[in-house]
Amino acid sequence: MNIEIFDKAAEYLPDSCFDTPPDVAVVLGSGWGEALEMDDMVVRIPYADIPGMGASTVKGHQGEFILYRRGDKRIAAWCGRRHWYEGAGWEPAVMPVELSRRMGCQKALLTNAAGGINPALRPGDFVIIRDHVNLSGGNPLIGPHREEWGARFPDMSEVYCRHLAELLHAGANRLGIRAMDGVYAFATGPCYETPAEIRAYKALGIDAVGMSTVPEAMFANACGMKIAGLSLISNLAAGISPRPLDHKEVMEAGAAAKPLMASLIGDFLERL
Ligand code: HPA
Repeated sequence: MNIEIFDKAAEYLPDSCFDTPPDVAVVLGSGWGEALEMDDMVVRIPYADIPGMGASTVKGHQGEFILYRRGDKRIAAWCGRRHWYEGAGWEPAVMPVELSRRMGCQKALLTNAAGGINPALRPGDFVIIRDHVNLSGGNPLIGPHREEWGARFPDMSEVYCRHLAELLHAGANRLGIRAMDGVYAFATGPCYETPAEIRAYKALGIDAVGMSTVPEAMFANACGMKIAGLSLISNLAAGISPRPLDHKEVMEAGAAAKPLMASLIGDFLERL
């Protein structure tokens, strides 16, 4: 990756982003940013204005950075994300993590919509990510090593923080939301998977599959951040679903889950 891209992006952000470290960075997939209560905003910037970030090229994906205060907490909310399949490289995909890190943030909650593989999962369920499988063959850390990005060979024994996963579980229990622990796999997209791929992933112990989150998690883990991961099951995976997969179905499930996603994230942020 090109460190100068991150330098330019950081230079663009106002000083108020750097005066107090955010307690947590939240990366919000599928329009969920709109559902969070962000009454006391410090900064609000469209991705399109951040050098090296750029607007999302995907229909239905927001693109806005909002730094806000809620109670005694400061939250760096990244509403929407840039995916690797968009072809703009790794930099925009990991930019939310890198800029949050530069602000002094040490925790991240990464959210996404995913296809359900585990037969116990139904659309509308949540998966609290406990581990991941990188099916992409790619890795944002390939390239020149930077001291500030942690070890050259980062340990990955506990990418997703046990304590933060327990917080998410406790919140789901309190709110009566169906959530189970699971392994999330990152496939590059933009194609959905074939039924044979999904059968193979099931045999590998994968519970849910999507096109995001893992690059951010690999990068944040290397940098020493504590990570929580949360998937909304938007659809059953290919070959399990009775219908062909379609972005519209994913977006509709994401919209339907907005209130639950907002209360789960709200509870998590409050108890952090
Ligand atoms: N596969 C990959 N990515 C996805 C899916 C899926 O079934 N659903 C939402 N994102």
